[in-house]
Amino acid sequence: MYHEYQDRIRHPLLRERIQSAAAAAALIEDGMTVGMSGFTRAGDAKAVPLALAERARQDPLQITLMTGASLGSDVDKVLTEAGVLARRMPFQSDATLRAAINRGDVMFMDQHLSETVELLRTGQIAPIDVAIVEAVAILDSGAIVPTTSVGNSASFAILADKVIVEINLAQPLALEGLHDIFIPKHRPQREPIPLMTPRDRIGTSAIMIPPEKIAAIVITERSDSASTILPADEDTAAIAAHLVAFFEREVALGRLTERLLPIQAGIGTIANAVMMGFIDSPFRHLSMYSEVLQDSTFDLFDAGKLDFASGSSITLSAAKGEQVFGDIGRYKDRLVLRPQEVSNHPEVVRRLGIIAINTALEADIYGNVNSTHVGGTHMMNGIGGSGDFARNAYLAVFATKSVAKGGKISSIVPMVSHVDHNDHDVDIIVTEIGLADLRGLAPRERAQAIIENCVAEPYRQMLREYVAEANRRGGHTPHVLEQALSWHVRYGATGSMLPEQGSQVS
Ligand code: COA
Repeated sequence: MYHEYQDRIRHPLLRERIQSAAAAAALIEDGMTVGMSGFTRAGDAKAVPLALAERARQDPLQITLMTGASLGSDVDKVLTEAGVLARRMPFQSDATLRAAINRGDVMFMDQHLSETVELLRTGQIAPIDVAIVEAVAILDSGAIVPTTSVGNSASFAILADKVIVEINLAQPLALEGLHDIFIPKHRPQREPIPLMTPRDRIGTSAIMIPPEKIAAIVITERSDSASTILPADEDTAAIAAHLVAFFEREVALGRLTERLLPIQAGIGTIANAVMMGFIDSPFRHLSMYSEVLQDSTFDLFDAGKLDFASGSSITLSAAKGEQVFGDIGRYKDRLVLRPQEVSNHPEVVRRLGIIAINTALEADIYGNVNSTHVGGTHMMNGIGGSGDFARNAYLAVFATKSVAKGGKISSIVPMVSHVDHNDHDVDIIVTEIGLADLRGLAPRERAQAIIENCVAEPYRQMLREYVAEANRRGGHTPHVLEQALSWHVRYGATGSMLPEQGSQVS
C-alpha cells in the first residue's frame, strides 16, 4: 500500500504514517485548539473533521477551531450538529453554524483575516495543538504542498505541536508550484515584505516543517465543494456598469491608466458579477491582488483582459472548476496562491495601490458600512478580508443592491446598525441605482451624494426628509438620534422598513 503513494508522499518514512481518518482524529482531545486548512470552501481538510464529528457523537468533546476562512463539505455544519465547536474563528458562512453562533452556543471571533496568525505567533490567543492541512503532496524534505488554498495553513503547521496531513488524490498534482509561502519575521525584527508587484514570488513553494511533526497522514479523494454564487442579474450588471463608467472617467482624467491598478474583489455573487463587468470594458492588462479567486478571474483570463492574479484560494462553481483544474497548466504561470496574511497584508495593499471592491449588507447616509450583522445583532458571515483591504486601499469601493428582501429592506439607511468600515475608510458606494463618489466630501456632502445617487424610491424621499430634520438640529455629522435606527426597529416589528399606510414616517 505504501508504494502506491510514492508520487504524493515523497519522504519514504512518512508513508508509514498513513492512517484512517478516525485514527488521525483520535489525536485531537477535548479542549484542544485545532488549526485547519480551508479558505472559502477551497483546500479544506475534509476527512479528519468529519471523523472527529462521528467520534463526538459517541464520546462528546469540544474544541476551538481556527481556519483560513469558510469551509465546504458541510464540515462546519456537521461539527456544529455534533456539538464539537466551543469556539470558532476567524470567518464562516454556514447556515447551521451561523444559527448556533446567533443562539450563543458557539463563541465566534470575527477577525480581520490577515490578523489571526499574528495573534497566534505572539501568544495573544491560545496556541494551536493540532494542525490539519490538506495537501497534494509531501516533498522529500517533509514540506507540505497545499491544494487550492493557502489561507493560514502554513502558520498553523509551523505553530502546531502536531500536524495531520490529508493527501487529497482528487486534487491534481499539477497544483504543485502554484503556491508562494512567505512567513514574516517576529516583531520587532520584522522586515518589509519584499513584494513589489502582484506577480512577485518571495517565498517557498511548500510549507517547510520538520517531518517528525507530521503525526498522521490520511488519504482522501473528495473534491472541494463548488461555490454557491449566483449568475449576474439585472441589478448586479447595473452595478458593474456604473463602476466601469466610473473607472473610464478616472482614466479620462489621467488618474488611472487602462491597466487600472491591481484589483481585489470580495466574496459572493455581487463581487463576482462586478468582475464579470470588466470583460466588456475598455480596460486591458488588468491584474488582481485579491484573496479569493472566483469564476470571474478565469473568465477574465480567457477574455484576454487579465494578465495575472494573486490570491489565497481558488473557489469555483462546479462547471468552472472542472474546466480550470482539468487544465490548470494553462493558467499556472499567471497565478500565485499566498498565505492570507500576505494576500491581505496592509503594507502590501497600501504599496501596490489596490482597488478594493467589497460588498455591504447595508451602508448609511454618511458612508459607514455594515458587512456582517443583520439588524445590528445577527452574524451573517464575518468581516473577512474586507477591512484588511478597505482601510489601506488606493480606492475602497462598497457595492450593494439598493434594497433587500423584495424591497422590504433599504440597504441605505439613516445609520447602520453595526459598523465594520467607518466613513473614513469608504471612498465609493455603488448600487444598481448609481454611484456615489465620496472622496474629498464632508459628511453633509456625503449624505447628499449617497441619497441622490444610490437610493431607490420611496426610501430616497424618506432619507431626504431625515437629513433635512438632522441638518436643522445641526452638527458635523447630523442625526436625529431617536429616529436613527427606527427603520431597523420597524422592520423587526412589521417585516418592512416601509412605513405602514397612513402612519407618520420616522
Ligand atoms: N439586511 C438583511 N439582509 C440582507 C441585507 C440587509 N441590509 N442585505 C442583503 N441581505 C441578505 C440578502 O437578502 C441575502 O439573503 P438570502 O441569502 O437569504 O437570499 C444575503 O443577505 C446575501 O446578500 P446578497 O445581496 O446575495 O449578496 P452577496 O452574496 O454578495 O453577500 C455579504 C453579501 C455582505 C453577505 C458578503 O459579501 C459578505 O459576507 N461580506 C463580508 C466579508 C467580505 O467582504 N469578504 C470579502 C473580503 S475578500
